[in-house]
Amino acid sequence: MRTEQPKVIHLKDYQAPEYLIDETHLTFELYEDRTLVHAQLVMRRNPAAGSGLPPLELHGQDLELVSLSLNDRELGLGDYQLGESTLTLQPDSAEFTLDSSVVIRPESNTALEGLYKSGSMFCTQCEAEGFRKITWYLDRPDVMSKFTTTVSAEQHAYPILLSNGNPIASGSEDDGRHWATWEDPFKKPAYLFALVAGDLWCVEDSFTTMSGREVALRIYVEPENIDKCQHAMDSLKKSMKWDEEAYGREYDLDIFMIVAVNDFNMGAMENKGLNIFNSSAVLARAETATDAAHQRVEAIVAHEYFHNWSGNRVTCRDWFQLSLKEGFTVFRDAQFSSDMNSATVKRIEDVAYLRTHQFAEDAGPMAHSVRPESFIEISNFYTLTVYEKGAEVVRMIQTLLGAEGFRKGSDLYFERHDGQAVTVDDFVKAMEDANGVDLAQFKRWYSQSGTPRLVVSEQYDPQAQSYSLTFRQSCPPTPGQPNKEPFVIPVALGLLDANGAEIALRLQGEDAASGTTRVLAVSEAEQTFTFVDVPERPLPSLLRGFSAPVKLEFPYSRDQLMFLMQHDSDGFNRWEAGQQLSVQVLQELIGQYQRGEPLVMDERLTEALRSLLQNETLDAAMVAEMLSLPSEAYLTEISEVADVDAIHAAREFARRELGNGLFEPLYQRYMTNREVSRQTAYEASAEHFARRALQNIALAYLMFSERSDILSLCLDQFDNADNMTERLSALASLINSPFEEKRAKALETFAEHFKDNPLVMDQWFSVQAASPLPGGLERVQALMLHPAFTLKNPNKVRALIGAFANQNLVNFHRADGSGYRFLADQVITLNALNPQIASRLLAPLTRWRKYDSARQALMKGELERILASGELSSDVYEVVSKSLA
Ligand code: TRP
Ligand code: ZN
Repeated sequence: MRTEQPKVIHLKDYQAPEYLIDETHLTFELYEDRTLVHAQLVMRRNPAAGSGLPPLELHGQDLELVSLSLNDRELGLGDYQLGESTLTLQPDSAEFTLDSSVVIRPESNTALEGLYKSGSMFCTQCEAEGFRKITWYLDRPDVMSKFTTTVSAEQHAYPILLSNGNPIASGSEDDGRHWATWEDPFKKPAYLFALVAGDLWCVEDSFTTMSGREVALRIYVEPENIDKCQHAMDSLKKSMKWDEEAYGREYDLDIFMIVAVNDFNMGAMENKGLNIFNSSAVLARAETATDAAHQRVEAIVAHEYFHNWSGNRVTCRDWFQLSLKEGFTVFRDAQFSSDMNSATVKRIEDVAYLRTHQFAEDAGPMAHSVRPESFIEISNFYTLTVYEKGAEVVRMIQTLLGAEGFRKGSDLYFERHDGQAVTVDDFVKAMEDANGVDLAQFKRWYSQSGTPRLVVSEQYDPQAQSYSLTFRQSCPPTPGQPNKEPFVIPVALGLLDANGAEIALRLQGEDAASGTTRVLAVSEAEQTFTFVDVPERPLPSLLRGFSAPVKLEFPYSRDQLMFLMQHDSDGFNRWEAGQQLSVQVLQELIGQYQRGEPLVMDERLTEALRSLLQNETLDAAMVAEMLSLPSEAYLTEISEVADVDAIHAAREFARRELGNGLFEPLYQRYMTNREVSRQTAYEASAEHFARRALQNIALAYLMFSERSDILSLCLDQFDNADNMTERLSALASLINSPFEEKRAKALETFAEHFKDNPLVMDQWFSVQAASPLPGGLERVQALMLHPAFTLKNPNKVRALIGAFANQNLVNFHRADGSGYRFLADQVITLNALNPQIASRLLAPLTRWRKYDSARQALMKGELERILASGELSSDVYEVVSKSLA
């Protein structure tokens, strides 16, 4: 907890470390009521940091110091100074060995940072600054060391003892304890350290790398989960192969391990050779995990594996460079997922997520650039901006350089910086050097926050047969950044003729036309591009594949959008045209609702979707995506002032209209696909995902009919499906329906059946927390008393409280402010238990500027109450104070 004024850390203050740690020898003695950590650090003065022998300042937090010695000489009280979270001493030579012994308390560590217990297992989470909760150290990523780790524990309760690298020795003692020593031959920063001890079973496999080395692969889980590892193992092998093919990157140790733990703050962690995962990101089998969960497991396994190069072999100099590893690795895992499944669907999902959540972050009080300039608590900067927008920035580099040029750049980056801790500038420099280009202006994407707006206008000259597009870019002010310089915005586009055919593109000044999709690099505040040889007024298809993270505006009519939905050769833009059409129709309904008029929906939307549904040649996954209306959260994001009640009423009205208007084709699509599902064994493949997606969205629409025959179909799917995707969809449709008795019964049966599977119970909590039926807050409060719920488990907090605050907008934003008060209460409780989770949970309250003045006052009131609630963690303090500033 914070007792002093919080310190703001600035990128501009970066200084190289005064000392280096060449070797780190750790010994852990694990006991039920305490853990003893002994660290021997082989250190020397950093020659790059100047001359003389400045004081050595080590990081440490919540450590009980037992002993300290320098070059084997025990230090006394006068030999060192203990600060709030530092230990300072004076070395007397340029090379020395420092030994320390401390006691730590993993059994009462509820923050899940450092060494802690998840159930009966010991595990670690050191990124970003958790290692300092384990021992006194230079806990910064530019200090890289060779680690040797010995773990000792009671043998019966902790038969498995793991750390990074290769096992080199082990043994048992007479007192029932045993030990194991691990050595990691690669130098690494402390944030990549890991240790696990527990009663674990493992699934084993192996992978032969492109140079013919055999790597042992192991996934460790608690015994009851041993049947849920195959999908993660398959994903791992695919990832290893893909990284060799797509990036030429081979794995480097003889063993790669994944451990699944139930209590984990994030998705997973890329510790060298020993990834630690939230069990929700590893465990998956048909009966208990949805298709979405299977795809998430595949993506996260890949993400963490890819970090071995983009993060571990080449790491970050300091935490301001976080996107160097995270943005790049998200980009890499997105490429991988595109190659494994449907590329267009993957892009649609990523863009919908970015525009809904990252754009909101970029417009809020915590807005920061992809490379932030300052922070109070680094844990608060594991954000959508660093991860998702950071990935978009890498994607734009690839779009500008082309796939081959990008690969040359990444090869040079890995080769040049292997074994180093580097910056975003080094990454961009490698891209520049490998391609002979200048990305100086492009780099504003790393330093300027906020979402650029790109307004496009057109001019057709029939005499000259020329067509001009004028782009005007601007970027709203964000905290600390009142004015912005123009970005380089790659705009991929095409032109369609009246038949929907693509026009060959020739820019003024070019000798001949080439291609039908071109990337224009818009780099000025206002810039015009003219195409020649354009025989008729074309319809532009702009920002194909969402080639830049901007808000594009072009005055399309509804008929033009329907035309693009049918004809655009770019799959992403066909979906996008449908979304824009839906947004226009929904905004019209929102206006009607606000004026107290009867709601009347533009039937063109129904007809556009009817022709999609009737076209059996279209990809089922695309049809499902196109049938999904923009979410309430997205409609909120694009509103000047969000009227949650109007948004909800309008969207539900539109869904009902579509459900009834398209009953016949939906029914037909549902019946056919459900029948195939019934006849076919579950597969986690793109084709199966697509079929179930269409089947389930059709069911959700059909349920609006409130017909008893449809209810029977839904109940049948709920009772008899052999997989969680079908079962959970049926449950969600059911519990939002008016059939109250069936609702209650289904929830009860489900909980009875799955009460011993915490990940399934998370789903059960979530569907209920997200239900927009009245009384949502009271239902959530009641569920908090359910035996399967606990505030100490982050997955439970996210499943119940997070789902309520982020996905149940009508109930959370209830006009009396009770939703806000509830959330603030939970944040105050969690602040003391787990600051990272408390701070993340708080995000919806930081968006107060989006709402009417009465709600603004209520939300700010709750933020002020949190601020006044006592000693705040730096995590919660930073978010609350910035939100009120
Ligand atoms: N590096 C992890 C990733 O792959 C992020 C992470 C895992 C993390 N656990 C964490 C970050 C705890 C902060 C705190 O994205
Ligand atoms: Zn990552």
